[in-house]
Amino acid sequence: MVTKYYDLRENINEDNLDEIIKAYKDGEVIAFPTETVYGLGANIYDDEAIGKIYQAKNRPKDNPLIAHIGNISQLESLVKEIPIKAKLLIDSFWPGPLTIIFKKNKDISQIATAGLDTIGIRMPDHPVIETILIKGNLVLVAPSANISGSPSPTTMKHVLADLDSLIYGIIDGGNCEEGIESTIIDLTCEVPTILRPGTITKEDIEVEIGEIELDESLLGSSTLIAKAPGMKYRHYAPKAKVYIIENRIKTDLIKIEIKKEKIDVNKSAIISFEENRKHYEELGILHKFSLGSMMDLKYGIRNLYRILRDCDILGIENIFIEDYKEIGLGFSYMNRLKKAANQNFLKEK
Ligand code: TXA
Ligand code: MG
Repeated sequence: MVTKYYDLRENINEDNLDEIIKAYKDGEVIAFPTETVYGLGANIYDDEAIGKIYQAKNRPKDNPLIAHIGNISQLESLVKEIPIKAKLLIDSFWPGPLTIIFKKNKDISQIATAGLDTIGIRMPDHPVIETILIKGNLVLVAPSANISGSPSPTTMKHVLADLDSLIYGIIDGGNCEEGIESTIIDLTCEVPTILRPGTITKEDIEVEIGEIELDESLLGSSTLIAKAPGMKYRHYAPKAKVYIIENRIKTDLIKIEIKKEKIDVNKSAIISFEENRKHYEELGILHKFSLGSMMDLKYGIRNLYRILRDCDILGIENIFIEDYKEIGLGFSYMNRLKKAANQNFLKEK
């Protein structure tokens, strides 16, 4: 299949819009931009189309999809009830990078929701996909538009690197602003619980609805089964072996590792905050990437997956990347990093 390319970066062209909306209604699967990462979308009322998503991504069938909506009446058609706390969160954060888990209406696709009686829903904050959802009155279920396991795509090129010729089309809407997937909060349990941290933090949410919890699986022990089925899989991972440099700068430990594992410094990368770059120069590692200033972690998060994918393109075998304090946005950054590194920390014994 030759994947169709729609360029909607500069202006949202009406002819393209009509063609895209018709294709979704005809059961095609098309990748689209959001403010977090690119999604791979299909009409929620078309199980055959949804099946194509799982196939293209090679996604496990027990991993449910998030529904993307353009307005509140679509939300009402998908869920049993809208709890008061959901209303408060919607007022504050939608459109935006927050997915809310609701009790679903029973006639909603079992395939999209992997047989659960709940459904994750969000209203994306990106003019291209907002226009499509509203103009076409579409609800699109979409996972991130990558092959399962690789870092989520934050540019159109990333999507094509994974899915070219496997999907009907791709809509180019430029680079994603947030750079990691949405925060997921479950409102179907007694105490609202974060299942996946994102750029809307626990602290941000608590300002609106009071105290909430973090799913136990996010708190270190990797043996606990995550409540978001997708969180249990290895994720966000480049091909290289990734080392997280605990407490940053530890050049002595990196030196020891390079020697012990006979690491080729010409096929290695250092990913660090700008302030710390100079400390690593003595190691002779060829590839260096900047996460920007430690004072602006949003920038680092926005660029994290792009850097990991660039490492793959360069054939890098070993990546040393700096950690960050696990509060606020730092908690979300470390969540993705630990998965990319498979919990591999470089630390003092
Ligand atoms: O930012 C995002 O959320 C992106 C963009 C495209 O919207 N989407 C995304 O989808 O990251 P995906 O499929 O890669 O991750 C969805 C996560 C998975 O971990 C899945 O298990 C969880 O959401 N999930 C979906 N529905 C759920 C439900 N009803 N209950 C618990 N977890 C759910
Ligand atoms: Mg994903």
